[in-house]
Parts: sequence; C-alpha cells; structure tokens
Amino acid sequence: MLAMPLIGWAMLSAGGYPVMLGASLRLPPIFPASPAAFAMLRHLHGGLAMLLFLTFLAHMAAALYHGLIRRDGALSGMLGRRQD
Ligand code: HEM
Repeated sequence: MLAMPLIGWAMLSAGGYPVMLGASLRLPPIFPASPAAFAMLRHLHGGLAMLLFLTFLAHMAAALYHGLIRRDGALSGMLGRRQD
C-alpha cells in the first residue's frame, strides 16, 4: 500500500510525464527518465496492484470463513465487537 503510490510516481517520472497534485502543484521527478525503466515500473505497478487485490480477496475469504464456518470470534474482533 505504501509502495504503490511511490512506484506510480517513479513510473511517471521515468516516462517523463508530469505528476500533478491538484491543478497547480507539480511534484518533482523521483526517477531518471528512461523508457526501459518506465516499462519495468509499469509492469511492477500492474503486478503489485494485482497482488494487493488478491490479498484483499484472501483477507475477505478468511474473514468469512472465520465468521460463518469456524465461528471463533475472529470476525467479531475485526468488526470491533466484544467477545463477552
Ligand atoms: C494505492 C495506490 C495505487 C494503486 C492501488 C494503483 C493501481 C493501479 C492499477 C490497478 C492500474 C492498472 C494497471 C494495469 O492496467 O496493468 C494502475 C495504472 C496506473 N497507475 Fe496506479 N495505482 C496507485 C497509485 C498510483 C500513483 C500515485 C500514480 C501516479 C502518480 C499512478 C499512476 C498510474 C499510471 C500512469 C497508470 C497507467 C499505466 C499504464 O497502463 O500506462 N498510480 N494503477
């Protein structure tokens, strides 16, 4: 989650694209411009995004397994409910 925005920023820097915060604040490049680095970082950004999404899905599945099948209080704990 921390790496994704940094890799996105580095990717656009490597591609020579401006990275804007709002309409007027342009962030400085954090990676030297290079088409090969842009391609590599773009690949990494897409791959890590997929990994993040799969982690989210696995976490959801595990939470439902604990809440509906094992009924061991793990889901209640995640939802902030007291056990007693
Ligand atoms: C939590 C943060 C972020 C997530 C989860 C995320 C996720 C994604 C995903 C799922 C894609 C589509 C990937 C694909 O088509 O293969 C994408 C593309 C892209 N992201 Fe991010 N992103 C994040 C942050 C950023 C930031 C901060 C920037 C730039 C400052 C950025 C720049 C881009 C660009 C330019 C593309 C298009 C790449 C292309 O296909 O040419 N991302 N991002």
